[in-house]
Amino acid sequence: MKNIIAATLIIISACCAFAQESSKISINPNVDNLVINKHIYGHFSEHLGRCIYDGFWVNEHMNIPKDGRIRLDIVEALRNVKIPNLRWPGGCFADEYHWRDGVGPNAQRPTLINTTWGNVTEDNSFGTHEFLDLCALLQTEPIICGNVGTGSPQEMASWVEYLNFEGKSPMTDLRKENGQDDPWNVQFVGIGNESWGCGGSMRPEYYADLYRQFNNFVENYPNARVNRIAAGANVADYNWTEVLMREIGPRRMWGLSLHYYTHPRGGSSPLRLDYSLGNETPEATRGRSPFGGPGGRSGFRRLSGSATDFDEETYYVTMQNCLRMDELIREHSRIMDKYDPDKRVALVVDEWGIWTDVEPGTNRAFLYQQNSMRDALIAGSTLNVFNNHCDRVRMANLAQTVNVLQALILTKDEKMLLTPTYHVFDLYKVHHDAKYLPIQLETPAYSMLGYTSLPAVNASASQDESGTVNITFVNIDPNQEIPVEASLAALGLKIKSVKAKVLTSKNITDINSFDNPEYIKTVDFSGAKTEGNLLKVKLPAKSVVLVSLK
Ligand code: AHR
Repeated sequence: MKNIIAATLIIISACCAFAQESSKISINPNVDNLVINKHIYGHFSEHLGRCIYDGFWVNEHMNIPKDGRIRLDIVEALRNVKIPNLRWPGGCFADEYHWRDGVGPNAQRPTLINTTWGNVTEDNSFGTHEFLDLCALLQTEPIICGNVGTGSPQEMASWVEYLNFEGKSPMTDLRKENGQDDPWNVQFVGIGNESWGCGGSMRPEYYADLYRQFNNFVENYPNARVNRIAAGANVADYNWTEVLMREIGPRRMWGLSLHYYTHPRGGSSPLRLDYSLGNETPEATRGRSPFGGPGGRSGFRRLSGSATDFDEETYYVTMQNCLRMDELIREHSRIMDKYDPDKRVALVVDEWGIWTDVEPGTNRAFLYQQNSMRDALIAGSTLNVFNNHCDRVRMANLAQTVNVLQALILTKDEKMLLTPTYHVFDLYKVHHDAKYLPIQLETPAYSMLGYTSLPAVNASASQDESGTVNITFVNIDPNQEIPVEASLAALGLKIKSVKAKVLTSKNITDINSFDNPEYIKTVDFSGAKTEGNLLKVKLPAKSVVLVSLK
């Protein structure tokens, strides 16, 4: 493949406070055969707080539809958004996890302490078989993250043998003894997680050598070729990417990861140190765990900001932080291009999303946060960034699916609610494996005194197998409706129908609560029409809009 530049060209026009400025877009044909990989829409589930235990995996006496101990209302909701993959068992937990603890008869599985996440009891009732049963119910691809931090090449090699080997062998025998005859043929394996931090405080040169060693013993068994994902950089640690690309090389990995969380910060609030904000040197951040103090590994995390109680200035800075994803992808890709001009290696953003303070009164180590209209705008904008970099970004995982960080689903005993972020994934599922349509975009600015202007509108477009063109727009301006004119001339389409849906709410702080779980939801939208080759859309303030053209 040529060195393709897929990213959208965005021009921010000066903001005028009075006239209603419009956004102008042109949508171009798919010339480079680029596809928006469905794996960009992936998710992440860690043994952390109430994601697995009391999330996916509930008490056997809970009175709701279940398959064993797996909650089926969650399964149904995730199948509806066509969840393409699920990453497990961590996160930081992965580098302390020994898979043999989670297989075999329950009574014989050890009860341990989850020292990464709050020193809670880990009874290992959810292990390899249970995770793969969950993936089968979800009809999704598993991503298993192996233990480099406290594990060995032998342990990882035998896990892959247990997962993927069909013929007679000690691990096949053990798997069969534990009730699973056929191998699962797991395709995606992570070689460690955050090895610069909670995964072992390593320097990139050391991790690169360990990767090469572990990688040697991860076998490709018949029908089970493993796509290996290297533990990539934290935020803007470009040296990490440089060293891994140079020392591991593009032929030994399928993907290289990147972790970037959006933190809410008000401009006037004091700078809060946080290892994942990227405002400290990689040296200073190495060794930190994401949650310190009691139950954390030698690190600390200062509070981020409330999930639901924030002003417009905090919102502004949060969106600025969110949109930084574009710059990070460009810079990491630029380094990857040096060693891999054909873009064989995927950039895998396997942890992203907004990270706020926990809900008042909940365990700080459980990272349980509410999810607002702001978070939907973050999800929509970030997914547009990923789509527009689909030449390099071919997998991503929002952190984390249920009850942790920017979750799609929150539960409270038998109750379950779908967050505004869930609805964005529902709208955007039209992009899964669709042909990428590059766009040029001119947008008014969303401005705040004392800050650099932000592009008010972002968008991405694709064409599915049936020929339908789907465009997803986000207007991050919480106050102004923005008219958009999108030129479709280059596509040479004969448009017969225009359908649109919108997700918006009165306030950016609005949420779905257990008392009002459908307060924010997607509705049909009448603000889109075509005039010849021109699509005209009136994007409501703070909205995510999907327009489908047939
Ligand atoms: O998603 C929560 C934590 O954030 C993960 O365990 C870790 O990889 C990251 O620091």
